[in-house]
Amino acid sequence: MNYIGSKRRLSAFIRSVILRTVAADGKSLRDCVFAELFGGTGIISRGFKPEVKQVIINDLEPYSYVLCRNYIGNHRPFDFREMIRELGSLRPQEGFIYQHYCAGSGSGRLYFTDANGKRIDAIRSRIEAWKVGGAVTDDQYYFLLASLIEAADKVANTASVYGAFLKRVKPSAQKSLALEPALFSVNDNGHLVFNQDANQLIHQIKGDILYLDPPYNGRQYGANYHLLNTIALYDDFEPRGKTGLRDYRRSRYCRGGQVAEAFEELIRHADFRYVFVSYNNEGLMDAPTVASIMSRYGRYELATTHYQRFKADTDQNRTHQATATTEHLHILVKDE
Ligand SMILES: C[S@@+](CC[C@H](N)C(=O)[O-])C[C@H]1O[C@@H](n2cnc3c(N)ncnc32)[C@H](O)[C@@H]1O
Repeated sequence: MNYIGSKRRLSAFIRSVILRTVAADGKSLRDCVFAELFGGTGIISRGFKPEVKQVIINDLEPYSYVLCRNYIGNHRPFDFREMIRELGSLRPQEGFIYQHYCAGSGSGRLYFTDANGKRIDAIRSRIEAWKVGGAVTDDQYYFLLASLIEAADKVANTASVYGAFLKRVKPSAQKSLALEPALFSVNDNGHLVFNQDANQLIHQIKGDILYLDPPYNGRQYGANYHLLNTIALYDDFEPRGKTGLRDYRRSRYCRGGQVAEAFEELIRHADFRYVFVSYNNEGLMDAPTVASIMSRYGRYELATTHYQRFKADTDQNRTHQATATTEHLHILVKDE
């Protein structure tokens, strides 16, 4: 998924800094509980999942919970081929997505072609029916939902996020939705997945390594990915305005006047020896603010890397401009 603030391209850098810091203390990853409280797509925890004692992952957004519940929470294999095949061959259905987010229903919105909107409805309804009827386990339910969210995102008619739809259907959105299995890695250990505000969850968990990747600007994820939440929750509500927005939870990390206080609270209450914080050099908090907050609680260091970030334009062609960015990884080894 092309996710705002995704650390996919930075994962090798983040991983190497974490490994180096933990090893310098003579600690083995195998004995560590690794927690990530702003999980997003879960890409960083996916890398650590096979190597640590346990992963704890969390995100405020329901679609992210679905992805993390599958990619991290699922760790025992099951056969999925028949389920994916059956879902992929369902007859299209005129449900909530078609009614409110496709042009053919007269909604005035063009997030999906009519054909893809009806397929999303058919697949989503069947997954729910299977769950209600006890035909799938929780593990299978989240695996199927994650597969659908990934597939729907690939054919969404947006520049990249769901804050707006394009006026004409772009080539990738014209393709027929292809339901592919959202494969997860198999391992013996169980993991924990939460859907809470990080500042609340921090009081309920403890471990060794804490990785934090909070939003760094004013773009609320709930607004920018509202349609993925609607597919994840598939509840009944009155979509609002031109984009069919739903109510969403607002994050303090996206508000200039609140972010430093929220961040300080989080670091103070973290019952973890190693804390790593990804934060962009163009963020709402500047680097000295992050450093000064973290330094209050132990030994602080900064690791940086430069990379090319692609900014999505809002035009029809989805051209992207590369900009040079410095990514900061703030390191805190907390006092015992
Ligand atoms: C920069 S993204 C994380 C991206 C992730 N590292 C990845 O590579 O996919 C920030 C995430 O924080 C989540 N978020 C924002 N405020 C939050 C809060 N108060 N508690 C928990 N999660 C929050 C957002 O939903 C979003 O997924």
